[in-house]
Amino acid sequence: MLGVTGGIAAYKAAELTRLLVKAGATVDVVLSAGGARFVGAATFQALSGRPVWSDLWDEAAPGGMAHIELSRGADAILVAPATADFLARLAQGRADDLLTTLCLARECPLLVAPAMNRQMWQQAPTRRNMQVLADDGVALLGPASGEQACGEVGPGRMLEAEELFDELAAYLQPKLLAGRRVLLTAGPTIEAIDPVRAITNSSSGKMGYALARACHEAGAAVTLVSGPVSLPVPRGVRRSSVTSALEMRTQVFADLPGQDIFIAVAAVADYRPASLAADKIKKGSAEMTLSLLPNPDILAEVAASPQAPFCVGFAAESRELAQYAEAKRVAKKLPLVVGNLVQDGLGADHNSVILFDARGAHALPTAPKLEVARGIVAHIAKLLGGR
Ligand code: C5P
Repeated sequence: MLGVTGGIAAYKAAELTRLLVKAGATVDVVLSAGGARFVGAATFQALSGRPVWSDLWDEAAPGGMAHIELSRGADAILVAPATADFLARLAQGRADDLLTTLCLARECPLLVAPAMNRQMWQQAPTRRNMQVLADDGVALLGPASGEQACGEVGPGRMLEAEELFDELAAYLQPKLLAGRRVLLTAGPTIEAIDPVRAITNSSSGKMGYALARACHEAGAAVTLVSGPVSLPVPRGVRRSSVTSALEMRTQVFADLPGQDIFIAVAAVADYRPASLAADKIKKGSAEMTLSLLPNPDILAEVAASPQAPFCVGFAAESRELAQYAEAKRVAKKLPLVVGNLVQDGLGADHNSVILFDARGAHALPTAPKLEVARGIVAHIAKLLGGR
């Protein structure tokens, strides 16, 4: 159920409705009298493909009891935008219109996305109301800080539709890793040859970042050690940026104490140049040989360290996936290896993976990387059990 109250951010609720419907959700929109001043019911009706509800006394409501029936069976109620006045009435437990009544009569989680002028947001009564709502278990999405419709700049901007969609999806994920601490590596490493040249690989970091996000969604405290990629830091994740394999190793061991789970997704360069040329190497006509030294295997070292966390490795292979992945699992003494054929996943937005553990191989369906990541998290949680 999507509640829309009277703020200019109501136009973003129309886009949010579209995103939710596109993702397969059934969306019942409840529009307050104020909300209807900004966006008409016809807009939400067209986008949700369902009737829009506004009136506590609507005789067409299911069972003739709009204030109770409309939220029955809902997985969540999200109010976006939530005005200062609506939040105040919610904190008071008022039931003086359809939306407040539905919120009071609900059995499902309630999330609010505030939208108001920065002074209204910072004023003592709103602060008090937000504290009451937090104590009552109402989840708060945003607000963001920035330019406001009134021309002022500060906190109170409603999150964008895509952000609200992501936050809601994250909120609804089962908290399989609640209380756990997870450390991940992601992305490629870059091994410098001279000031302008380097050895690297085409890892995009997408799978590692999706896993960091999925771990956070599952309730874990997440630290991500990332090679150079152009991806935004997932919300709620602490990221350290590194360049080379040696830097990645140093950072991983600095962050390791107290971690429950280590997931090595990074495509760490296996070798680095034996020496770094101080100046740019000049072109010549003779054949050139580059001398390489093997890099430390970060995952194997972590897995062999005292009080090692639960370690998960990745195996990207171009052939004979099962054989290589299982060999890697045994050699590095890992409880779990995630295998994928490079032609299936490298750089792409989708991935198909097979999970190898002590009990055998388990294929996950081909899906967007975030969905694959959620599947991997569920498998990790199952293997961890009560450990
Ligand atoms: O042995 P291979 O490099 O194929 O193993 C891949 C797994 O080991 C991945 O999980 C990768 O992140 C990790 N790894 C590592 N340090 C390296 C090489 C690989 O942590 N130097």
